[in-house]
Amino acid sequence: MHHFHYVSHTLFCEEVPLSKIAEEVGTPCYVYSHATLVHHFRVFDGAFSSVEHHTCFAVKANSNIAILSLFGSMGAGMDIVSGGELYRARKAGIPAKKIVYSGVGKSIQEIDYALSEGILMFNIESFEELERINERARELGLRAPIALRVNPDVDPKTHPYISTGMKKNKFGIDMKFALEAYEVAKKLDYIEIVGVDCHIGSQLTDVAPFVEAIGKIRELVNELRRRNIDIRYVDIGGGLGITYDREEPPHPMEYAEAVLNAMRGLNCCFILEPGRVIVGNAGILLTKVLYTKKTPTKKFVIVDAAMNDLIRPSLYNAFHAIWPVHLDPSKEEEVVDVVGPICESGDFLARERPLQIQAYGDLLAVMSAGAYGFSMSSNYNSRPRAAEVLVRGRDYEIIRERESWKDLIQLERIPKWINL
Ligand code: LLP
Repeated sequence: MHHFHYVSHTLFCEEVPLSKIAEEVGTPCYVYSHATLVHHFRVFDGAFSSVEHHTCFAVKANSNIAILSLFGSMGAGMDIVSGGELYRARKAGIPAKKIVYSGVGKSIQEIDYALSEGILMFNIESFEELERINERARELGLRAPIALRVNPDVDPKTHPYISTGMKKNKFGIDMKFALEAYEVAKKLDYIEIVGVDCHIGSQLTDVAPFVEAIGKIRELVNELRRRNIDIRYVDIGGGLGITYDREEPPHPMEYAEAVLNAMRGLNCCFILEPGRVIVGNAGILLTKVLYTKKTPTKKFVIVDAAMNDLIRPSLYNAFHAIWPVHLDPSKEEEVVDVVGPICESGDFLARERPLQIQAYGDLLAVMSAGAYGFSMSSNYNSRPRAAEVLVRGRDYEIIRERESWKDLIQLERIPKWINL
């Protein structure tokens, strides 16, 4: 569900024609719908309203502080994976007590920052990290609230790059060693065990792997309690998929029902870490056609957005629908590759895609780009990163300015001993 729709053959975000944004802000440009963001957050969070829970939005999916702040205003917490994400979340006004910190490689600087802010819990991914956090907490005279991220060895049946809960993945502590790790944690003076965590992967389109993982978590929680280890929080990560093409993921209500059923009787506070399901379909990447080009075997539509703006097609061969901003019912479709200006053959947004005939200046919307779009963008080929716009009803605001050429070199220095 989203608020991008045609009115007399022109694509709108809520009540704003995308052509107006292209004209005033330029392209490429990310456009998000406030109404979709609010709706998705409410539906997801509301699906868990029968139990005590925190919905901690996965900042990596979309890190713009305006969007974090919007979720914060609806009561969201945040799931972070770096000091930078903690900084963003705090700047966006999110209380530290609603922030959980995951990730396999937390540095000392990041641990100290999170400890001094007083976050809700660290999701710990290894024995060494447990020792390191204990040491840092001792150094700062604090106690670190922790959960151990366990790896339940469940196949989420998603793209291998975004599956995280299988034995071969780098994430979490193997289920076999989980009890031992909790016993170690119990003996550490500056560690306070508060929970259990797991996250098995992203873009899951079936509830079965979640239910399987939760079954294992539940057994673990019961055993820990038998051993007098108090577990207050059970964090089941994120991962619920969305429709990019023809996928039929479970509705958040269905997901919540399955999860809560698998958890029934466990008296605890649940933590959810959704990312994509909240923001994915709430954003598009708006781009303009620069050239069209025919080769003996192909037809290319060359646009002003590229893999540096949206890397998902290049990296995961991901499908993003492409909608013309102006539909012309008299125009025929042709099969094209939509590509960017970057000097790599892997720089494409769509391949072998039927699309109405395009010409210089036409606008296209790359759909479902709200998650892992801007947040994974880069400056490759010295391309300034795109602007981000948030639409609300008839109005819109720029929530991130387009970078300039000057911004590109701002942090660079030419040593004096290079004489030109
Ligand atoms: N929690 C943890 C610990 C995670 O690692 C992730 C995502 C999430 C929550 C949120 O997952 P979501 O609800 O968004 O599926 N760049 C890839 C996705 C990478 C996901 C990484 N972890 C993509 O564009 O598909």
